[in-house]
Amino acid sequence: MTDSKIISQDILDSVVDTLADKGWIVDRSIFSAEDIARLREACLADWEQGRFHEAAVGKGMQQDRRIEIRSDSVLWLEPGRGGEAVQLYFDRLDQVRQAVNRSLYLGLEDLESHFAVYPRGAFYKKHLDRFRNDDARTLTAVLYLNQDWPEDAGGEMRLYLDDTCVRHLDVRPEAGTLVLFLSDRFWHEVLPAGHQRLSVTGWFRRRLGDLSW
Ligand code: OGA
Ligand code: MN
Repeated sequence: MTDSKIISQDILDSVVDTLADKGWIVDRSIFSAEDIARLREACLADWEQGRFHEAAVGKGMQQDRRIEIRSDSVLWLEPGRGGEAVQLYFDRLDQVRQAVNRSLYLGLEDLESHFAVYPRGAFYKKHLDRFRNDDARTLTAVLYLNQDWPEDAGGEMRLYLDDTCVRHLDVRPEAGTLVLFLSDRFWHEVLPAGHQRLSVTGWFRRRLGDLSW
């Protein structure tokens, strides 16, 4: 690993402190413009080759395509299979995982991630990321790949900051913005996108079965 691949300790400390304090953070320093440009290229190349599929809701037997809930398309990613840009994404987020585990004891074990493309008009209605039949998803990480996202293009992620969904924060899906939040606590939605909207969404998972011990 070269130095440019290592996230500075100051940045990791501030991410961990903010997560401990609020349960969410919007970061713009972990990924550089160049990293994002390469990820966007990789995402678009896969998209143009028709490798995406329409996203579903739920997991396992309960998985279902629900166009009235979400209308994006996704491509699942795997570390070690997908080129340098994708590997860099996994390497960086693994540094975040380790820092979070050291300080917050969340016991995060791995990261499942997909590219997502929201065609013009696509959205994802208000939801929580933790499945009803699987509570492994613990920390959500959404990274946006859209350069110069127009002010009036919509497509914000609306992150509700309390259980009653009164206070919220709208995050523009602008290149390099990374949002982390606790998967079981924060309701969120994607407002209809006025333009094609690209992102990488990941979930840090803790070991399954912990609850049964
Ligand atoms: C998701 C999701 C948010 C976004 O894929 O579960 O909520 O801003 N994505 O893309
Ligand atoms: Mn979500």
